[in-house]
Amino acid sequence: MSSDYVLLTEGRARFWAPNLEKYRRPDGAIEPSWAPVFYNPRMAFNRDVAVLFVHTFFKGLSGVRVAEPLAGTGVRGIRIALETSGVSELVLNDADPEAYSLVERNIALNGLAGLAEAYRADANALLYRLKDEGRAYHYIDLDPFGSPIYYVDAALRALRKGGVLAVTATDTAPLVGTHGAACVRRYGARPLRSDFAKEAGLRILVGAVVRRAAMRELAATPVLAYYADHYYRAYFVVLRGARRTDEALSLLGYYAYCDTCLYREAVEGYPAPQQAPERCPNCGSPLALGGPMWIGRLCDEDLVSRMLASIEEMEHLEAKARVRTLLEKLRVECSVTRPYVRIDELCGRMRINMPSPRLVAALLEAAGYRAAVTHFDPRAVKTDAPLEEVRSLVEKHARGREAS
Ligand SMILES: C[S@@+](CC[C@H](N)C(=O)[O-])C[C@H]1O[C@@H](n2cnc3c(N)ncnc32)[C@H](O)[C@@H]1O
Repeated sequence: MSSDYVLLTEGRARFWAPNLEKYRRPDGAIEPSWAPVFYNPRMAFNRDVAVLFVHTFFKGLSGVRVAEPLAGTGVRGIRIALETSGVSELVLNDADPEAYSLVERNIALNGLAGLAEAYRADANALLYRLKDEGRAYHYIDLDPFGSPIYYVDAALRALRKGGVLAVTATDTAPLVGTHGAACVRRYGARPLRSDFAKEAGLRILVGAVVRRAAMRELAATPVLAYYADHYYRAYFVVLRGARRTDEALSLLGYYAYCDTCLYREAVEGYPAPQQAPERCPNCGSPLALGGPMWIGRLCDEDLVSRMLASIEEMEHLEAKARVRTLLEKLRVECSVTRPYVRIDELCGRMRINMPSPRLVAALLEAAGYRAAVTHFDPRAVKTDAPLEEVRSLVEKHARGREAS
């Protein structure tokens, strides 16, 4: 191969990838999107979690069929085939001709010729074709540039009953409300500029996938959803049936939010919010309303625990310690549907010095609540305590410090 490409290792995969040294910005940072084929070494963490997910979720099952319709170099799918047991078919597709030839080479290099197939097609066209040929998949991983939403319909159609759809979204600006109009166009939801904007963005993404699935009488339930390195990632188990679908839709709703005092309230109801309050019951300011979004649990606690228990079986993860830290945080956060509270923002509104979020979490735990510094933001605490309780504990702590 030309010097434009280098041989790399990630997990158990050896693969050809663009020589990223050639794509340095003037500030010295590498810009993977400038390379002829996309490969981002920083996303090894994202791929680690995907490998661990497939290993854990499909444990004991043989004949697992995996499709990666936006494959780049193919490293993600190749790692899944090599590092988990049970994969019997792997479809790796990329519309870009150079990516396609790289995928072909990388399949051969890893001895996966009998199991993996390379395609060069539009992702949606390929998924429709595969399904029409009677091929359906246990696991489809959408890892695009920007939003996955353009591919969700075709992927849902090509999933087997009980299969898993995984999506990455790097278009965080629309989802957190920096480009609110784009969020309305793309996700059919109004974002919420709030102290918990990152969580609201993830909930809007999850809600949009749930709504797309509902059109096909498919119930998509998030079992693992998180934020990392300026992207979102969500895994959904997809089941059939009108009743299940209605149950999934019942967990869509809105959030009412007061920017003056940070009051927030989940408002049930989809498509229309039921009884959305207009004024903050705490300070009387007008409330903003964001959604529709998912207001249920973002992760399945049992799955997260099983993934944690399986980590030691995975010899080849690139960032094992980071994966463990994320899952440990998610295990605590799983059962808390109330959005996180930014302690710096809260203390700013209260005009008091900010205690460390870790201390606030400890005080809340001592008071009998679930609480932890959230994976979304190191300045914030996720807790099942009402905001009033967080405010009063923080205030008591500040008064105690003044007195001493
Ligand atoms: C973010 S990269 C994929 C990275 C890869 N999943 C990984 O983990 O390394 C997105 C890829 O999608 C491809 N792509 C973009 N639009 C596409 C389309 N409509 N159909 C198929 N591939 C497409 C691009 O060529 C690019 O290689």
